Amino acid sequence: MQRDLPPLRGRVRVPGDKSISHRALLLGALADGPVRVEGFLPGGDCRATLDCLRALGVQIEQHDETTLTVGGAGLRGLWAPAGPLDCGRSGTTMRLLAGILAGQAFDSVLDGDAQLLRRPMERVAAPLRRMGAQVETKDGHGPLHIQGRPLRGLEYSLPVASAQVKSALLLAGLYADGATTVHQPGPARDHTERLLIAMGAQVQIDGLSVTLQPPPQLRARTIHVPGDLSSAAFLIVAALLRPGSEITIERVGVNPTRTGLLDVLSQMGADVVVQNVYRLGEEPAVDLRVRASALRGVEVGGETVVRMIDEFPVLAVAATQARGRTVVRDAAELRVKESDRIAVTAGELAKLGARIETRADGFVVHGPTPLRGGVVDGRGDHRIAMALAVAGLLAEREVVVKGMERVKDSFPGFEAVLAGMEANQ
Ligand code: S3P
Repeated sequence: MQRDLPPLRGRVRVPGDKSISHRALLLGALADGPVRVEGFLPGGDCRATLDCLRALGVQIEQHDETTLTVGGAGLRGLWAPAGPLDCGRSGTTMRLLAGILAGQAFDSVLDGDAQLLRRPMERVAAPLRRMGAQVETKDGHGPLHIQGRPLRGLEYSLPVASAQVKSALLLAGLYADGATTVHQPGPARDHTERLLIAMGAQVQIDGLSVTLQPPPQLRARTIHVPGDLSSAAFLIVAALLRPGSEITIERVGVNPTRTGLLDVLSQMGADVVVQNVYRLGEEPAVDLRVRASALRGVEVGGETVVRMIDEFPVLAVAATQARGRTVVRDAAELRVKESDRIAVTAGELAKLGARIETRADGFVVHGPTPLRGGVVDGRGDHRIAMALAVAGLLAEREVVVKGMERVKDSFPGFEAVLAGMEANQ
């Protein structure tokens, strides 16, 4: 017997943006006074950054789940940590901290969970060495052993469009004796640049090139974190695919380096409308109204991939319900995220009846296919677990997603938000 699938309804908010929350902590720690952060994401990955900063002597006062004050220690105010810094599963924590630690007058070790220690770190270690730091990896992976050194400015062309590597180099550039310029092959998210500018640093942006002049100090200021579009993505796709649904997601960040999914869904025929436009600190934010829609297949490649790099597991779910072929290319980076997101997305969705083929740099989905029930596994990856939960909302029979505990890395309360939208009849 088929399950009853009521429409999703209601007005919801998603937790704060993960990338901006990390940066608020890190730049707040280096500011010349206390920095209040509003809308902070109380997720596992940002918690790792917070704990590392406390181990570096930074005072952080948490007022409630999403509001805190980082006692800016100044650019030269960090202390040598007593032991290795635990980055948990967070690639952003390890890579961005590596940039900051490269220029300190002490040594440090960045460690993390087995999953993080499988991810590539040479991409950040190699340019930091060129700036003058000593950074040792273990065959290109963490733990990272960093001997802080006086740094020199660098002009560097990123081999991949990675905001984490770009940010690490700009953060190291705060300690360099001259300008640091990073050339990007594509538009990686620019939250670090926006915050640096807001804190008084001289940052010049020329197309895909960013140049930072080392500032004398970073001026403390309140940082407002908008809702995370990468978390909203799961709710957007769920509402598009559940017949009769209409939801509004409030105050979600729409930085243009992050909105690739909205562009792609619009090409697929999705009814997603911007209702109100806000400015939250340095970032644009909107209310998004989403109505259930019939989707068609689409081709995704090039710069759009960079602008939606975290959204491919849930795009694949949308594609299973779209008419025709959806082709994703130029997305080999997906193989080095929290899991190999090409192999894992395809493997797990296939268990539910999806027709999906993998390619070295992407995947092809043939839709539409009904999804059947079954047991699937998030494989330690928060975004895979949430994408599979969305697939479960559409399936003809019950879907059990193993590994839902990882969801709290980026979207604490995910299941409650979904349940609330189901209950709003
Ligand atoms: C992030 C950048 C992206 C993204 C990650 C967060 C950031 O990684 O996938 O979830 O906060 O800078 P890459 O820089 O490795 O592409």
